Amino acid sequence: MSQDGYVIDQMISAKAIAARVEALGAEITEAFRDTDRLVVVGLLRGSFVFIADLIREIGVPCEVDFLEASSYGNETTSTREVRVLKDLRGTIGGRDVLVVEDIVDTGHTISKVMEMLRARAPRRIECCAMLDKPSRREVDVKARWTGFEIPDEFVVGYGLDYAQNHRNLPFIGTVRFTDPQK
Ligand code: IMP
Repeated sequence: MSQDGYVIDQMISAKAIAARVEALGAEITEAFRDTDRLVVVGLLRGSFVFIADLIREIGVPCEVDFLEASSYGNETTSTREVRVLKDLRGTIGGRDVLVVEDIVDTGHTISKVMEMLRARAPRRIECCAMLDKPSRREVDVKARWTGFEIPDEFVVGYGLDYAQNHRNLPFIGTVRFTDPQK
């Protein structure tokens, strides 16, 4: 797929994503078998497509809530601040919580969000990330469940954006710049 100054090459097909989401759903169902009502927390905006598919593969009753966090700071140092732009509507104290993230890159966002949510005293809290780029990690964090480990490439589709575009692609693709100015 060719865009202005860049090309998107498919990395993970819609079919492969669906198969992996089904398997993750089965593992999560098993892990939360004894939970009355799980709270699934999607991190906006990137996780909205993944969470929509994932909850339909989870076989225990669940509520869905959303949190929007944004990380700011100097790209060249690991001093990054994570700010909450939109907080959860509900409370999670004493509840079983599954945080759903699109991609764990440096790890700053998920580690700060998990720390903040842990402070609200859930009974149990786990994280499921669709993608993981372990080679980019700056904070020692790992999601309990990961869809796919990928190399250090910028990816779009299945909820992930490049300058707010391409979230609607049904597959995950890499962005390859063809214009040396960009
Ligand atoms: P982290 O705090 O560096 O782990 O960044 C996580 C956030 O950065 C993700 O939730 C994404 O929104 C964004 N991000 C990181 N890598 C990519 C990518 O390859 N494509 C699109 N967004 C990305």
